[in-house]
Amino acid sequence: MARPTKVEICEVGPRDGLQAEKYFVPTADKIRLINKLIDAGVPRIEFSSFVSPRAVPQLVDVVEVLEGLDRTKGTVLSALVPNAKGAIRACQAGVDEIIVFMSASESHNLKNVNRTVDESLAGFEEVAKIAGDAGIPVHGAIATALGCPFEGDMPVKKLEYVARHYKEFGFTGVGFGDTTGMATPPVVQRAVRHIQDTVPDLPIHLHFHNTRGIGLVNVLTGLDEGITHYDASFGGMGGCPFAPKATGNICTEDLVHMLDEMGIETGIDLSRMIDVAHDVQDVMGRELPGQVMKAGPRLQLHSMDDVATAAG
Ligand code: COA
Ligand code: ZN
Repeated sequence: MARPTKVEICEVGPRDGLQAEKYFVPTADKIRLINKLIDAGVPRIEFSSFVSPRAVPQLVDVVEVLEGLDRTKGTVLSALVPNAKGAIRACQAGVDEIIVFMSASESHNLKNVNRTVDESLAGFEEVAKIAGDAGIPVHGAIATALGCPFEGDMPVKKLEYVARHYKEFGFTGVGFGDTTGMATPPVVQRAVRHIQDTVPDLPIHLHFHNTRGIGLVNVLTGLDEGITHYDASFGGMGGCPFAPKATGNICTEDLVHMLDEMGIETGIDLSRMIDVAHDVQDVMGRELPGQVMKAGPRLQLHSMDDVATAAG
């Protein structure tokens, strides 16, 4: 299949990135960073989540954050929601899109949302009704879709089971979340092809974590399979607090840099995106994993005076 010439990146740093941090990022900083993402041309942003504030206290200010965001530029502002209660809150707050999430694996679903797979799905039927009444679209994410830290490889039949329900509920697409970075190119290819064959016309979004250093390689596999939606996080932050050894998402600036080089359009201004990553790094007060934010784009040249001459 020909690689797409245009893809949509969803920035998940404000949610996936900040949820896993001990430090509570002040609401004003969250608002400034997300508005900078909007200015950089990011088309879709997972700006926070409507989960239990006891489970994820870092995102307790979701309503205040939304109230501070620039909604004049058409950026889709999405929030993660685990159940009907979250959907009611999200609709009241006026999000553009709800993203429900559950795990394909029973064990991680119990850890993350305290529900069995079927209990989560029953709740999503209710979410579909609530969001439908409010005219808000719902996208369905699947955590541990490409490997579970407790169960290992994820049988594609389990993905199919969840994806079939998502389609039945009228969701706009299905996201494969690689929560602990267990995906490899063959795993991605198998999962994508299986869902494309068995649950056709349900767009697939890919959400990789770079836990084992193959996040962008997995994107390349996704591109070869014709996938046009990718999640990524500023500075490469990210991680699920309810999964062992979960580390950062693929990094937004690194992904934009790669796609720019490949002539694949994202609508995101790379230098502005790098500026956001530096701002996030300053807020967090520690070095982030992003690489292009440190090295600069590959053709950003240096003066010869910058380095010493090797003398024998
Ligand atoms: N938003 C806010 N509060 C919520 C909520 C939501 N979406 N869903 C439940 N609650 C509240 C209930 O009102 C109840 O509060 P109370 O004790 O003050 O009455 C309390 O949480 C327990 O409700 P219950 O339905 O029994 O939830 P639970 O304890 O089984 O937890 C979840 C289930 C889904 C709410 C919780 O596990 C959760 O928020 N998980 C999110 C994890 C996450 O964000 N992971 C990262 C993303 S990958
Ligand atoms: Zn994630």
